[in-house]
Amino acid sequence: MKIFSEKTQIQNAIKQIKTRDLSVGFVPTMGALHEGHLFLVKEALKDNQVVVVSIFVNPTQFDNKEDLKKYPRTLEKDVELLESVSKDILVYAPTVNDIYDGQAVAEEFNFDGLEFEMEGKFRTGHFDGVGTIVKRLLEIITPDNAYFGKKDYQQLMIIKKLVEKRQIPVKIIGCDIYREANGLAMSSRNVRLKEDYKEAAPFIYKTLKTAKEKFGTRSAKEVTKWVENEFAKHQFLTLEYFIIADAENLKSVKRKYKNKTYRAFVAVYADEIRLIDNIALN
Ligand code: PAJ
Repeated sequence: MKIFSEKTQIQNAIKQIKTRDLSVGFVPTMGALHEGHLFLVKEALKDNQVVVVSIFVNPTQFDNKEDLKKYPRTLEKDVELLESVSKDILVYAPTVNDIYDGQAVAEEFNFDGLEFEMEGKFRTGHFDGVGTIVKRLLEIITPDNAYFGKKDYQQLMIIKKLVEKRQIPVKIIGCDIYREANGLAMSSRNVRLKEDYKEAAPFIYKTLKTAKEKFGTRSAKEVTKWVENEFAKHQFLTLEYFIIADAENLKSVKRKYKNKTYRAFVAVYADEIRLIDNIALN
């Protein structure tokens, strides 16, 4: 396993790979890797001859300093997990300085309104930070394909918009949400859940699945009311938002149209841990 901490090193390695005409797949992460990340890596290994995984806790996408401080940093374990999938993966684990050159500030982006919906409303500046780091990483790695999870569906749509608007030559591939056997979407935050909350958390996906069923015959407003009610009764989980939105522009749905695709999105607090999930409705 090759681990690079400086962009010039990984750029040299990639230059050599490109002279051999090998395709490069890229999976950006913030580390604390779990099966959900590995699922993305396995998808990348299927489509590409070389796979690069970046591990970088990006300071400019955190609106909450405490969250940034507490974010788990487990490089050694992450490398072991990646090795269990393939020993040929290239890991890029830079320092903040290597990425930001002493200026850890986010660029401002216009994502045609995608950035103002859902997570954008609750996490100020978050998507400017994500746009900044993903753009930089794509410029450094210059992959043919880059893999993102639908777990962060809004992020995936924003990256697609970034690549389109800035004409970055890469194919963005969205991968399905990888779940625990009990349905809970895998997340680096799950390990921080205390016992009662860990037991309660599968309720989130269970409710999303029932919401999907109900959406077949009821309006978005009725389904939203039902979900809000279910969470209001719950002892351990506090709903931040439940939104049914157009899967393309992420605007919340007022009226259903047959030719549109819809998704339901949810953010929930389990104690002080914030969990997000989503589901395709049609
Ligand atoms: P991180 O939260 O580490 O996630 C890295 C990638 O793994 C993202 O594309 C995310 O959607 C995907 N992922 C996480 N859990 C998943 C699951 N259960 N199923 C499928 N995919 C999952 O997202 C980020 O990091 C950062 O914002 C990043 C894009 C790296 C920029 O800093």
